[in-house]
Amino acid sequence: MIPEQHYCAVVVAGGKGVRAGGDVPKQFQVLDDKPVVMHTLEAFYSFNTNIRLILVLPHDFIEYWRQLCQTYQFVLPHTVVEGGDTRFQSVKNGLAKVGDDEVVAIHDAARPFVSPQLIAQCFEMALHHQCGVVPTIDETNSVRLVTSVGSRVLDRSAIRVVQTPQVFPAHLLQEAYETPFETSFTDDASVAEHHGIDIHLVEGEVTNIKITTPLDWVLAEHLIKLSKRQL
Ligand code: CTP
Ligand code: MG
Repeated sequence: MIPEQHYCAVVVAGGKGVRAGGDVPKQFQVLDDKPVVMHTLEAFYSFNTNIRLILVLPHDFIEYWRQLCQTYQFVLPHTVVEGGDTRFQSVKNGLAKVGDDEVVAIHDAARPFVSPQLIAQCFEMALHHQCGVVPTIDETNSVRLVTSVGSRVLDRSAIRVVQTPQVFPAHLLQEAYETPFETSFTDDASVAEHHGIDIHLVEGEVTNIKITTPLDWVLAEHLIKLSKRQL
């Protein structure tokens, strides 16, 4: 086991949240008693109180975030970094603040329900195997592949739906992110794989939703009530 202070999490909150709607990007909207991203940061702190938290924010919301921290008396120590136009660039900016001897989790701010247990499992496996670790869940819908001549059925059991946190030895992911952006880079594992890093899958959590559309707010309100009952 490496010392605890080598754990680091980059929480990417640099997006505009266009699909989710609302007056401010989804990561700043209040869920139950506080903004979404505060729940997300607290999940990592619950996993380990020595973890280094790096929060990537849109340029225009950095001052707004400072005000939110005062309003909600949010005191978890964290480093704020300015994001970029793409998730790729936001992660890259966050990684610049990560030590190459650390193990780093990259996590979507819009996934506030991740459990400390899943975070722990991802860190443990990344450390043990010195590889990338990605939580995935079953696809429950039937899926089809669109082709040039129409579409054809895909074997659903061969499909896994990808979540975050995605955890890596930091130096490996930092090297991977030196590559120029490609549109096929939809997550960190795709960047890592492009660089030849092994990716291990672990079972994710159906409750670890990414708040993406207005309907997700309905589920999120329900999940937060459930999680409080379980405390
Ligand atoms: N993200 C980011 N920087 C960007 C784009 C996205 O840090 N330039 C973050 C988002 O804040 C979010 C996570 O990446 O926590 C997952 O992205 P997504 O769910 O697509 O969020 P948004 O891009 O904000 O939403 P939308 O695509 O609907 O605008
Ligand atoms: Mg997006």
